[in-house]
Amino acid sequence: MASFRCQHRSGSASLSVVLISVLLLLNFPVGLCGCYKRIFSFGDSIIDTGNFVHLIGNGPSALKELPYGMTFFRRPNGRVCDGRVLVDFYALALQLPLIPPNLPEKDTGGFPNGANFAVFAATAMPSDYFKRWNHTVPIKISLGTQMQWFKETLQRIAPGEGDRRQLLSESLIVLGEIGGNDYNFWFGARRPREMAYQFIPDIVKCIGSYAQELINLGAKAIMIPNNFPIGCVPAYLSGFESNNPTDYDEFHCLKWYNDFSAQHNQALRGEVDRLRAANPGTKLIYADYYGAAMEFVRNPHGFGIGDPVVACCGGEGPYHTGMGCNSTAKVWGKPGDFASWDGMHMTDKAYDVISQGVLNGAFADPPLLRSC
Ligand SMILES: *[C@@H]1O[C@H](CO)[C@@H](O)[C@H](O)[C@H]1NC(C)=O
Ligand SMILES: *[C@@H]1O[C@H](CO)[C@@H](O)[C@H](O)[C@H]1NC(C)=O
Repeated sequence: MASFRCQHRSGSASLSVVLISVLLLLNFPVGLCGCYKRIFSFGDSIIDTGNFVHLIGNGPSALKELPYGMTFFRRPNGRVCDGRVLVDFYALALQLPLIPPNLPEKDTGGFPNGANFAVFAATAMPSDYFKRWNHTVPIKISLGTQMQWFKETLQRIAPGEGDRRQLLSESLIVLGEIGGNDYNFWFGARRPREMAYQFIPDIVKCIGSYAQELINLGAKAIMIPNNFPIGCVPAYLSGFESNNPTDYDEFHCLKWYNDFSAQHNQALRGEVDRLRAANPGTKLIYADYYGAAMEFVRNPHGFGIGDPVVACCGGEGPYHTGMGCNSTAKVWGKPGDFASWDGMHMTDKAYDVISQGVLNGAFADPPLLRSC
């Protein structure tokens, strides 16, 4: 098992066997030693670890103040969360240091353990794509932008094709979640919701084409996460509140929006299958964030979570979304008792639960720790 390469070589063979047995008895994940040397990740606020805050420089942002970061880092740190985000949990499980954001070190960083290119509010599609509907998105950072940054960094840290292929072959690419904002901004602008269906094939094709480009550059392991059950997100529940009880499912989530996410996810799954067939030498991991999040929507108490559809940080109202989360907002209790942090993004606790489902199964195909 290649994943045990990092065990000390000095031990006798029998000691290794004992160690392995103990690890198995303790039910440690098989990838404990880490099978990837680096993570390169792309996405939006779900995994941004500081690129957005770096980009806005001295500009004001609630992300620069507590209670953001209150739980794990105990200081604001560029994450849109009380603590760690999904890519942090992947790094920890793979025994890598936390992966730094790319932009603050883009001209100097050696990125020995990889880099994170995700940016708060980023879309999958370029902003020009939305012009045909007279629709604008708040920032011009798309998946294509992040891919361009990645190629610039690669050019610097691994110039030449041989070095580049070697580096990429030892790396895990986390490609998303991305595309969620393409829909969020449309729904948020109160545009006709049915029209968003037409974005799905374009967004899925966009993600697939960048995955193929990464494979062509030399990537051997790419994880592609799907979209969350947005109908269970407090900002959606308050923004699209309905008087019609049939608009809600048994968990008090908005059915239409969850169905919409499921449509996107079905198309994305098809694209991952297509990529697998076309690239037999590459591991493509489909991560089911939707399914993993529905676990704590269905059974919050099983995870120590109270009401899974109300925000921990915000204001009044049935979903605590009467005010955005910032330094003067109300924190309704211990973040670990909530799934939603600020009404739009999840808590360290929720990301921990989701990451476990991705690392060890049942919410990734194959489970991330078994992919090496
Ligand atoms: C596009 O949007 C702008 C500003 O929101 C508005 O003034 C304009 O009339 C719109 N054009 C069309 C064709 O809808
Ligand atoms: C926090 O947000 C509210 C609006 O949601 C705003 O009125 C208030 O000024 C903000 N506080 C700070 C410190 O930015």
